[in-house]
Amino acid sequence: MADILQIRRPASGTEAELAITEATIRATELRQFDIGGEPLATFDPGFMNTAVCHSAITYIDGDAGVLEYRGYPIAELAEHSTYLEVAYLLLNGELPNPTQLADWESQVTEHRTLPDKLKTVLAGFPYDAHPMTILMASVAAFYSFYPDARNFDDPAARSLNITRLIAKMPTLAAFAYRKGKARPYVNPDDSYGYCHNFLAMLFKQAERRYVADPRLIRAMEVLFILHADHEQNCSTNAVRSVASSGNDLYTCASAGIGALHGPLHGGANEAVLKMLREIRTVDRVPEFIEGVKAGKVRMMGFGHRVYKNYDPRAKIIKKSVEDVFEVTGVNPLLEVAKELERYGLEDEYFVKRRLYPNVDFYSGLIYEALGFPPEMFTVLFAIPRTSGWAAQYQEFITDSEQKIARPKQIYTGSRTRSYVPMEERD
Ligand code: ACO
Repeated sequence: MADILQIRRPASGTEAELAITEATIRATELRQFDIGGEPLATFDPGFMNTAVCHSAITYIDGDAGVLEYRGYPIAELAEHSTYLEVAYLLLNGELPNPTQLADWESQVTEHRTLPDKLKTVLAGFPYDAHPMTILMASVAAFYSFYPDARNFDDPAARSLNITRLIAKMPTLAAFAYRKGKARPYVNPDDSYGYCHNFLAMLFKQAERRYVADPRLIRAMEVLFILHADHEQNCSTNAVRSVASSGNDLYTCASAGIGALHGPLHGGANEAVLKMLREIRTVDRVPEFIEGVKAGKVRMMGFGHRVYKNYDPRAKIIKKSVEDVFEVTGVNPLLEVAKELERYGLEDEYFVKRRLYPNVDFYSGLIYEALGFPPEMFTVLFAIPRTSGWAAQYQEFITDSEQKIARPKQIYTGSRTRSYVPMEERD
């Protein structure tokens, strides 16, 4: 028997049966109820209970703390694969075989350099510009260099521009970082893999050849894998929404970067470190927790719209922290973070609201140990999230169900007033 939802409106005596498919009803079917001349709609600020697409990319079970890319558990990917392997998986639906992986890696390597003229755009930013604004503006500017990105219905053009963007993000991020430090840019080196090359472009100084500790390269791979996609989060929703008016990948990714920058989303990693620095020592944690409970501050890096359990990414990052600290030395703020987490997992305020550490809670400590200033933290999130945005963009473009994003509103303002001449206004 087909699953249905019966709705009855006693005020008008109207009834309807709505089909339930995939645990949802189609919102447009509610329109059959006429409410004083208005079709019935749903009110859902922040999309708390509204699905906007079918997607086969990322699966999350927030209650159980499960995250899978294309069906593969995140912990297995973090243990065995590289970031580029995962990017291929997100984009193509299957893990690459050795030939496919070698081919994909060489395509990405080929597209790492930035257009020369973009370097003059970078030179125009103030020396203390936030690197996320440099990233956002430069990614939008890529469209001027690669206008074929508007041919997104052509799979070859779409794939070329996805490769370009994934390849260039680390270069752009490293250039933004070195600009802030007034250091000369280091061009990509084809002999390095994706993460090693990124570290070299960031940190190479006078040495002839920069060699990163393999444990740090692996930590970077793991962080990139964990941040690659997270289904319909705020920035992915921005990417899809901007794509819905027929935009190129660069314009959409630039919107995604803007959304990611906010402290309630990707900017939380920067906010966590600021919070830890303000608390400074373990003995000041109880006072901070009281402030959180009194609603004066939020515990950054805690809570999630979807996870009502420990974020599986935070578990893996917590393990990576120890590996990185083996190379770099221990950051004393780790003890503050662990004490905050202890309170968070035991105190009734957090337990009742099911608030657990999220992906951003420990990542900032690793980034700081690697030598990054806090304003680079969200940039380090944006680089790998580009593959998720690209996969979601591709899925959106090829999804015949999709339409231009255009939510409804409930109008609460004045209606049809007569214009008041200036001399008659108070
Ligand atoms: N600290 C203290 N209280 C919190 C926190 C927090 N970090 N997060 C949620 N709460 C409380 C709220 O005050 C609210 O309490 P109330 O019911 O008494 O009013 C309740 O928990 C529900 O919170 P909402 O804000 O309604 O939950 P929502 O799903 O809208 O927000 C969000 C999720 C934005 C992630 C929120 O938990 C938050 O602000 N966390 C801190 C910022 C952060 O770490 N963001 C990164 C998320 S991961 C990512 O985007 C990559």
